[in-house]
Amino acid sequence: MKKIILAAAAVLALVPASISAFAATEVHIPKEQWGFSGVFGKFDRMQLQRGLQVYKEVCASCHGLKQVAFRNLEALGYSEEQVKAFAAEYEFPTLDDEGSDITRKGLTSDYFPKPYPNEKFARASNNGALPPDLSLITKAREGGPDYLFHLLTGYEDPPQGMTVMDGMHYNKYFADGNFQIAMARQLNDDQVTYADGTKASTDQIARDITVFLHWAAEPNLEARNSTGFRVMIYMVIFTILAFFLKQRIWARLEKK
Ligand code: HEC
Repeated sequence: MKKIILAAAAVLALVPASISAFAATEVHIPKEQWGFSGVFGKFDRMQLQRGLQVYKEVCASCHGLKQVAFRNLEALGYSEEQVKAFAAEYEFPTLDDEGSDITRKGLTSDYFPKPYPNEKFARASNNGALPPDLSLITKAREGGPDYLFHLLTGYEDPPQGMTVMDGMHYNKYFADGNFQIAMARQLNDDQVTYADGTKASTDQIARDITVFLHWAAEPNLEARNSTGFRVMIYMVIFTILAFFLKQRIWARLEKK
């Protein structure tokens, strides 16, 4: 009986290992160093601002960010006035008193506008493919920020013998579509001119937009990291106290 149980346990232990080994052969996504990782992890405010600039100047024409309101941008280190001015650069459709279509300036309570009026239009503009909303993208994809960074910088010539379909682009990290993605390479050196003077290499731009989109998906990450740290300290102190308590109780029992 014992042997059967042991054998069953061994099989069960091997199953997840073989599944993950299989998944790992699909695409290897290298791990990057991110400032927001770990218990002391923080977002770099200047980097978030650069990432916002990249979203606005490069990605926003095709991808929405519907879960982010302009007022949320204060977390990037902008003043209320700056956020107001930022929102006012956008126009939103509304009706006047007679019911005619007009536009109004964006308010801080507005959310980033959708790039296309509907899915049909979005697909028609992108060779049939739908550019996903980017609000939660780093959580929606295996590999999270590492995946996003490598996807954006992973465009290269297809391997010999592979024919890339019309309107598609080879990307060694886009496993879902047989390494063929409908989004063309978006980032190149000096594509943006950063307001803070940072040199805009492709790598830098990709890191900045990745950090910004990770903030969009996890705006409370810093608070969570520091709570995690406090919980850890509490556990350490509690363990030490419990240890001394145990010593005292057993010392008394042993005397008896
Ligand atoms: C010209 C339009 C266009 C622009 C600009 C653009 N994309 Fe895309 N993007 C697409 C399309 C279309 C898809 C869908 C690709 C597919 O499913 O094959 C896509 C897909 C994606 C995906 C999802 C990949 C996946 O795993 O499914 C991410 C992430 C992404 N884009 C990020 C970005 C970022 C970040 C920027 C700005 C630096 C950007 N895109 C700029 C059109 C665009």
